[in-house]
Amino acid sequence: MDCNTVLVTGGAGFIGSNFVRYLLAETPLHVVNLDALTYAGNLASLGDCLEHPRHHFVKGSITNAGLVAHVLRQYAVEGIINFAAESHVDRSILGPQVFVETNVQGTLTLLTEGRAAGIRRFLQVSTDEVYGSLGDEGRFTESTPLSANSPYSASKAAADLLVRAFHHTYGMETVTTRCSNNYGPYQFPEKLIPLMIMNALADKPLPVYGDGLNVRDWLYVRDHCTAVWAAFRQGRPGGVYNIGGNNEKTNLEVVRTILRQVGKPESLITFVRDRPGHDRRYAIDSSRMTAELGWRPEVDFDGGIAATVRWYLEHREWLDQVSSGEYRRYYAEMYDRRERLGTAARLG
Ligand code: NAD
Ligand code: DAU
Repeated sequence: MDCNTVLVTGGAGFIGSNFVRYLLAETPLHVVNLDALTYAGNLASLGDCLEHPRHHFVKGSITNAGLVAHVLRQYAVEGIINFAAESHVDRSILGPQVFVETNVQGTLTLLTEGRAAGIRRFLQVSTDEVYGSLGDEGRFTESTPLSANSPYSASKAAADLLVRAFHHTYGMETVTTRCSNNYGPYQFPEKLIPLMIMNALADKPLPVYGDGLNVRDWLYVRDHCTAVWAAFRQGRPGGVYNIGGNNEKTNLEVVRTILRQVGKPESLITFVRDRPGHDRRYAIDSSRMTAELGWRPEVDFDGGIAATVRWYLEHREWLDQVSSGEYRRYYAEMYDRRERLGTAARLG
């Protein structure tokens, strides 16, 4: 679908800021960016975009119906792309309430106000975690039953069902994308890859949960941006699209690759108590994205991780800025008292 103005929510976060940058560079669109600037949202991640004449930043929550209604009308928004969320599984285990408020109530508010304002299209950025956990075989398809296991993924699954209901009941033109693990520039250092890069650079222990053999399917963030844009423009109304990188890696493989890239020893690897309810394996079948929308990932893991490590080395000031204050408190709560199960020595 063609339009002039879209509302991107969560555009000061990791994927959202990459997506805003992508839209401003690759399209003539006006981008209204609504973000509450929680601990995970940083204006520093938007850099030059803040001065861009087609970028309009609004600080506020997607749960604020009055504000959402006002923004939609003030900017004559035609489509909504919803990235805003509480996005970290570990934090959802510490405190699920805000996950329901933002991910469920916030999505409902956007749907309700978007419908009232007559927007033409709504894209929900969801996650492969709504499908639960895989064994050694198989991959998630769009017809895999929802089987969320963490408070985070349960809140995302609830939001997906609301999006489905708004399409089915009211005929709203919605599209839902479900993507695997992203990595790349501007990712907050609570997630595996930036946390391990940051600790390795500081010669601090790299805390690997459990046996380190959980598998994730890694996608470079720019490939996620191109997929979301393709799905927004051409996805079937009511459609669901899986997005993945065909890059299955165990956490240990990822951590070892990072250590090699930054030239630090494997003795920094420290096994710690596992995440409660830790999903074992995710793997995505994204053949629908390719068959219907002609999308495929362009960045392989080796190239993407090298670019990511380089980016963090060249942006230490960003890392320092986002990893002060609240981050230090979180890190202490999550890791300082976590039982250590051994070091890399046990890898043999
Ligand atoms: P992030 O945590 O880096 O960013 C989330 C952004 O949302 C932040 O800027 C934050 O300030 C904002 N936000 C939070 N609550 C808000 C509220 N109530 N109102 C407005 N803004 C609010 O997250 P991310 O990793 O960039 O993920 C973006 C989206 O993509 C999420 O919906 C997530 O579920 C989904 N997703 C992420 C991944 C991944 O690997 N990171 C993979 C698949 C899907
Ligand atoms: O699959 C998509 C999802 O990927 C997104 O929906 C989420 O928003 C995103 O946070 C991510 O969830 P994960 O839980 O997979 O990502 P995380 O980076 O937290 O962890 C990746 C793997 O690394 C997981 O198996 C847990 C492990 N891990 C993580 C951290 C932070 C560790 O072993 N040690 C750590 O310190």
